[in-house]
Amino acid sequence: MTDNNDTIDALSHENRTFAPPAAFVAQAHVTDDSLHSAARADLESFWATQASKLISWQQPWDTVLEWDLPYAKWFVGGKLNVAENCLDRHVQAGFGDKVAIYWEGEPGDTRVITYAELLAEVERFSNVLKGLGVRKGDRINIYMPMVPEAAVAMLACARIGAPHSVVFGGFSSQSLVDRINDAEAKVLITADGGYRRGEVFPLKPAADEAVAQTPSIEHVVVVKRGNNDVTMVEGRDHWYHELMADAAPSCPPESMDSEDLLFLLYTSGTTGKPKGIMHTTGGYLTHVAYTHRNVFDLHRDRDVYWCTADVGWITGHSYIVYGPLANGATQVMYEGVPNYPGNDRFWAIVEKYRVTIFYTAPTAIRTFMKWGADEPSKHDLSSLRLLGTVGEPINPEAWMWYHENIGGGRCPIVDTWWQTETGGIMISPLPGYTTTKPGSATFPLPGVNIAVVDDAGQEVEHGGGYLTLTQPWPGMLRGIWGDPQRFVDTYWSRFEGSYFAGDGARLDDDGYLWLLGRVDDVMNVSGHRISTTEVESALVSHPAVAEAAVVGANDATTGQAIFAYVTLRGGQDVDVSTLRDHVATEIGAIAKPKAIFFTPDLPKTRSGKIMRRLLRDVAEGRNLGDTTTLADASVVDELQRRAAETSSED
Ligand code: WT7
Repeated sequence: MTDNNDTIDALSHENRTFAPPAAFVAQAHVTDDSLHSAARADLESFWATQASKLISWQQPWDTVLEWDLPYAKWFVGGKLNVAENCLDRHVQAGFGDKVAIYWEGEPGDTRVITYAELLAEVERFSNVLKGLGVRKGDRINIYMPMVPEAAVAMLACARIGAPHSVVFGGFSSQSLVDRINDAEAKVLITADGGYRRGEVFPLKPAADEAVAQTPSIEHVVVVKRGNNDVTMVEGRDHWYHELMADAAPSCPPESMDSEDLLFLLYTSGTTGKPKGIMHTTGGYLTHVAYTHRNVFDLHRDRDVYWCTADVGWITGHSYIVYGPLANGATQVMYEGVPNYPGNDRFWAIVEKYRVTIFYTAPTAIRTFMKWGADEPSKHDLSSLRLLGTVGEPINPEAWMWYHENIGGGRCPIVDTWWQTETGGIMISPLPGYTTTKPGSATFPLPGVNIAVVDDAGQEVEHGGGYLTLTQPWPGMLRGIWGDPQRFVDTYWSRFEGSYFAGDGARLDDDGYLWLLGRVDDVMNVSGHRISTTEVESALVSHPAVAEAAVVGANDATTGQAIFAYVTLRGGQDVDVSTLRDHVATEIGAIAKPKAIFFTPDLPKTRSGKIMRRLLRDVAEGRNLGDTTTLADASVVDELQRRAAETSSED
């Protein structure tokens, strides 16, 4: 990537800066360099301090870190229980009546669950699992809508030491089969169905289809939510509420080793087979509690926190379940989509619960932009004091829109970079300390060490390169379930001694980090590397554009050519040549898309990630492979039709 620093530097720079507002600083946990300097002085004792300050241990550790690259063990010899940390200790400390979860169902039904109630539910369900023969070390699969029982199930697994593997409820039954079989899970916890866009989407039929092909599953527990008709197989399938009615109320937490497996979470790699990312107990919990407290500046006595992710993703694991509950937070959990019954549903929820901290994804923010600023302006959002984003680079225009229309110009924004594999946030502003720039995730957190390196692995002080993590961190993945070689090959082979995240990054003149997306999304046009993200950002900066996705398609002359897929804002119109010129103005002629397709929607996974592979396939006229992870497969048919039309016009 060093061959094109000039090009990268010539790309549009963002020079606006936002210092933390004085009112925010006045109450923030972190307002100076002290965490950074402690971490720089002694990394291990820094993390040990966090672990003892934020977590309760049944038995202290002997060794903070055993590092035998690429194998890390944190807080070796320490014993603890994650559920006890998330529930019992808060109740014992007198916070039993504090609300843990304000749950809002999509149809508008609500539940308020205190810490004491959540603990009682988790203890009972732990006994249910034991009654079904689950023992410490057995794997449990969870395939649920966004209902409190999803968190109860995860915490009960943690309580009895049975690692869970949550599969996002939007995944197909085939995806579920693959993940259950890889983990050899013994029990599947699911629901009849859940609400989405005003209708019940059935889960149990998909679970049934899956279980027909998963010999390891002995029992299926079914939460009643959708009230849709389901078939219950005698002896195998059980209603959650019936088992709970008979369960004993008390279940002491299992004493777990710091390095015992807490969960598996499957994530896509470059091959077709998903990787079962392994996360363990003490280090993971320390990392998520520390980052949740400091990145979100959580004050548990007065904050109402809301993360809009699904528990099926790592964001839901770390920043709905484990981080917030470990910190005794009060949070909102919402079942459904942002546009039911209207496009203002999220803002209605913020107003209703007086949400103070709001964490969502850039793709959602761009969707809100498309729906227009009138939607948030229907509601009183004055309770908000901090905004966060995660999942992909956020373009400066979306950042500014979020800042102004949701944050009312007063809320710091934390753009948090991390991955399923890192377990918790790695790069992010500290909102009471860091001066932000729209679109930059800014700096690594205290305790996190990175280097941007070139192809040869040499550190780059300035300009573009590959993002690597140079020191172990507590929340890091411990391996890929059943495939130790893939763990080494995928993460630890490209740059010696470092973890390679798979992302490109650029360091600007002030040392700010700009994440450029996955390196396979970085295009090479006529020998110049151009980030898809930067071209997208340029397109989205045009007032008519709501959302854009850019891919590099093979081109006989230039190596790759830039193809753009663009969604216009409602009521807006613009022609292709105007947009191409706009990109040229924003970045340079080199970045002009060769082709631009207008499309009413972009193909996205159910988690909201744009499927670039598919877009490349469309651009290159290839047959499309597996589209089952798409939220809406018809989007692709439409794209192919339009692409075919365009090429026949050529
Ligand atoms: C990939 C990880 C982390 C939870 C959700 C996604 C991209 C994530 C950012 C950000 C730029 C980001 C990276 C990363 N990513 N956050 N703030 N800025 N890119 O988890 O599915 O494991 O994906 O998401 O490319 O490698 P994931």
